[in-house]
Amino acid sequence: MSASKQDETLLWTPGEPQNYPESPLSKAFAQPLMLGLFLPLQTGGWSQSTLPRGTDWSFDYNARLTQQAEELGFDVVFGLSQWLPKGGFGGETGYRENFLDPFVSTVALAAVTKRILLLGTIHILYGPWHPMHLARFLATADHISQGRFGANIVTGYAENEPRMFGSTKADHDKRYVQSAEFIRICNALWAGTDNLTYQGEFYSLEEAYVSPRPRYGRPVLASASGSPAGFGYAAKYSDIAFISSPAGEKLADALPKLPAHVSAVKNAAAAENRQVRVIINPTIIVRPTSEEAFAYYHAIMDHADFGSIRNFSARHAAGDSQSWLEHSDKGRAVGGHLHIVGSPAEVVEQLKQLHATGVDGIQITFYDYEPELAYFGESVIPLLEQAGLRLPQEQL
Ligand SMILES: Cc1cc2nc3c(=O)[nH]c(=O)nc-3n(C[C@H](O)[C@H](O)[C@H](O)COP(=O)(O)O)c2cc1C
Repeated sequence: MSASKQDETLLWTPGEPQNYPESPLSKAFAQPLMLGLFLPLQTGGWSQSTLPRGTDWSFDYNARLTQQAEELGFDVVFGLSQWLPKGGFGGETGYRENFLDPFVSTVALAAVTKRILLLGTIHILYGPWHPMHLARFLATADHISQGRFGANIVTGYAENEPRMFGSTKADHDKRYVQSAEFIRICNALWAGTDNLTYQGEFYSLEEAYVSPRPRYGRPVLASASGSPAGFGYAAKYSDIAFISSPAGEKLADALPKLPAHVSAVKNAAAAENRQVRVIINPTIIVRPTSEEAFAYYHAIMDHADFGSIRNFSARHAAGDSQSWLEHSDKGRAVGGHLHIVGSPAEVVEQLKQLHATGVDGIQITFYDYEPELAYFGESVIPLLEQAGLRLPQEQL
């Protein structure tokens, strides 16, 4: 029997991948501090600086990075999504001029990896994008990746993006109401024992069905937000909540504010009898000595691409995001929501402090990805293991 039009509760709900001990998500969640790599699928990655480097947006480069991260024991790679006009953010670097789609790219990365989780961002409210599309696309991605694919569901804060799709931006909190209906329908499709007929506020379906089913109840779901409405959404529907710094890029400023910020989303999830893991995005600059690390940090900022930084800040100011409110222009040359700079031991000390605020994982951006990821792997990961923040793969 199909669910009726009167059934407004969408009673079919799938199991959650974190409740299956053998799921890739459960293995990642066993790590005291999850390690994620923010992929540079877009020109310039995360850093608006002209200091020379090898970071590249091409798929081959990102595939190599993902394999390198997997070998080092990283748990997650992640791609962001923005929709930009010609030239991206411009400036000398043509910042984000080229932008590989993160959904397509992370699904493709499943073919060249075995263990690592692959998260791609999707703006579910743009265009005529129906829950049926996403339910089948994500179930397919789930099967291709054997339960490793996750969607980072975002509502879109930028002013110009909805217009590219021929629509206007809905009110901030209303976007989360619509997203919630979207995902509840997907959940019902992933769990449903029969065809689904449903008439909602934003979407309707008649005798709709999706098969095959995801391996572990549903695909991994993440969301990225800093607002109460976004945290309310994450509490109900996400396994992973990406947060930004509540106090700009300086770790010393963020540390006192982070415990309340992190608890807000975790407590909201606890009220739903759920658990959400919280991940934050630092740029890590690690060199053999503190002096070398800070010299490099300052060199990146001394080469700030102010042309693209001005455009980036203007776009953010025109939108209504409640995240990333206090980041400095020069800091954007480095990128990331927090800056962690120092020798390997100093970096581990800062990561310990971050972990003590309740943060469960870090989604790392580097300036020059390939060599810096390699050095992080050889110099920092062994110290994280000694500090009890990382378990070797064989213990998982
Ligand atoms: C770590 C992090 C990553 C994000 N990644 C994206 C992204 O890839 N694309 C996007 O449009 N918004 C992204 N956002 C923005 C959020 O999705 C959200 O649209 C924005 O922060 C406005 O919501 P809020 O006011 O609830 O924070 C990200 C936010 C955070 C904190």
